[in-house]
Amino acid sequence: MGDQDKKRQSRRGFLAGAAGIVAAGAARADNPQNQPPNVPDWTKTLGEGVGVRAYGLPSKHEQHVIRRTVPWLTATPESSVSFTPLHALDGIITPNGLCFERHHSGIAEIDPADHRLMLHGLVEKPLIFTVGDVMRFPRVNRIYFLECAANGGMEWRGAQLNGCQYTHGMVHCVEYTGVPLKVLLEEAGLKPNAKWILAEGADAAAMTRSIPLAKALDDCLVAYRMNGEMLRPENGYPLRLVVPGWEGNMWVKWLRRLKVGDEPWFTREETSKYTDLLENGKARQFTFVMDAKSVITSPSPQVPVRDKGFMVISGLAWSGRGKIARVDVSLDGGRNWKTARLDGPVLDKSCTRFYLEHHWNGEPLLLQSRAIDATGYVQPTKDALRKIRGVNSIYHNNGIQTWHLKPDGEVENVEVG
Ligand code: MTE
Ligand code: CO
Repeated sequence: MGDQDKKRQSRRGFLAGAAGIVAAGAARADNPQNQPPNVPDWTKTLGEGVGVRAYGLPSKHEQHVIRRTVPWLTATPESSVSFTPLHALDGIITPNGLCFERHHSGIAEIDPADHRLMLHGLVEKPLIFTVGDVMRFPRVNRIYFLECAANGGMEWRGAQLNGCQYTHGMVHCVEYTGVPLKVLLEEAGLKPNAKWILAEGADAAAMTRSIPLAKALDDCLVAYRMNGEMLRPENGYPLRLVVPGWEGNMWVKWLRRLKVGDEPWFTREETSKYTDLLENGKARQFTFVMDAKSVITSPSPQVPVRDKGFMVISGLAWSGRGKIARVDVSLDGGRNWKTARLDGPVLDKSCTRFYLEHHWNGEPLLLQSRAIDATGYVQPTKDALRKIRGVNSIYHNNGIQTWHLKPDGEVENVEVG
């Protein structure tokens, strides 16, 4: 931006000027009596006292910001998924009550007093931990994204769902408190031939996944807190495995058993499911890492643009291979790219927030974002991904998303050829 432009922008302000501010506010007002120069109703009476809201909830005006489901997607609610309302959030942290949920057999309701974590197999000393035992070990706090491998799975054959909540909402990013898995494994003592870990959940699905020992010793956690409070039941209370950067299915919830072995177990979740069928009939297996991905969360189909003029384009980027190095945004379907501004913490295997400010005159836009991670990996187009993977896959769709912003401000999920 030149000096002249800067001056002009500061003189004009970001909105359409003072008159614009009044108009923008008035357009959304229900009751003009509450507007300046009047004193609003809520200033004329005492408010509710402390203690009534023993566990705080968002304002009643924010009741639309909720996890949502796609009813036709699954046969039963016990084996289903709800989606994070990414379009209505900012920053990088997902509030606990809005983290998408994915259960294969419903939410296990666990009494922590009765819950145990068993550690056995190729160890010197098999151990059984109470939740209290786990909490006595030295602990760490880490912010990580969790993405279901099936995120975007409905979009392989073309644009399908109108909203980033549905196309990208199987991701959340929270701060975990827990014990490094390494610490527990060292407590038990690994036998020399130990190579893999089996993690098992205490839910009716008894979810089991094989995890290479190197990953277990690197950055996996047995977590009991998210965003400071104890895990929510739907996210694995009282214990869950955290497997940073790797597909969500491996983050076993309601963790009850860890077995050390010398080879993978080839469980249902790593043979019949969570493998990627290619065009030639072969399937990729053990595709653990979630590759770099990004999405513009606003504007997007659930948050159309109401006013012309200054506009903040905002989104999230993440990579299972490390930090996000750069995010590019295109307004013309990938022909030209601008470097977005990263704001807030840029952390390893975590969500990163990006922004691009734009002056919108009502021209149609084809909005895209493209993540580049610290390894130099560039998020591919959907067509590039289909060339190497075909369209039989469900999992690991990290192709570039396109939103069509129309002159009336509405936004639609589209693909560009
Ligand atoms: N762990 C158990 N025990 N049972 C499950 O059904 N679902 C897995 C994983 N861990 C699951 C589980 C899948 S597929 C995903 S994507 C994540 O948990 C979802 O975690 P969340 O519900 O906290 O978002
Ligand atoms: Co999943």
